[in-house]
Amino acid sequence: MSDSRLDRLVQAALDSRKSAYAPFSKFLVGAAIEDAQGRIHTGCNIENASYGLTVCAERTAVLKAVSEGVREFVRIAVAAETDPLTPPCGACRQVLAEFCDDLEIVMVNPAGKTESVRLKDLLPRAFRASFR
Ligand code: THU
Repeated sequence: MSDSRLDRLVQAALDSRKSAYAPFSKFLVGAAIEDAQGRIHTGCNIENASYGLTVCAERTAVLKAVSEGVREFVRIAVAAETDPLTPPCGACRQVLAEFCDDLEIVMVNPAGKTESVRLKDLLPRAFRASFR
C-alpha cells in the first residue's frame, strides 16, 4: 500500500471530522475506511438529544459502506483532536469485527500525529456468530 493512499485515507478522516454532529459532547470524530477495491467511505459521529442513540464515526463509515454492498475492508483511519490518540470504542470494535477478521486501524490527530494498531489486538477473541 503506497504512502499516498494512506495520506488520502488520513486526510479523508480529518475532513470528515469537520462534518461531526456533536453538539452535546463537542468531541468531533471523523473516520475513513478503505475497501478491498481501494474506495474510501467516510463517516463522522452523529449525536442525539437522547444520548444513547449517538453513532460513532467508525460505525457511520462502515455502515455506510455495507449499505452500499461493500463487505471487504483493508484499513480504517480515525481522527480526533486528542493526544494520546483515540482508538475505536468497544461497540465499534465489535461492529468492525463483523466484517473484518483483522483490520489496520490508523489513529490520527489534526496536529499530524499518527499511530497504527490492529483490530485483532484491540479486540482479541471477538465474538462472531458460530451458527451460520
Ligand atoms: N466517538 C466516536 O465517534 N468514536 C470513537 O472512537 C469514540 C467516541 C464519539 C461518540 C460521541 O459522539 C463522542 O465521540 C463522545 O463520546
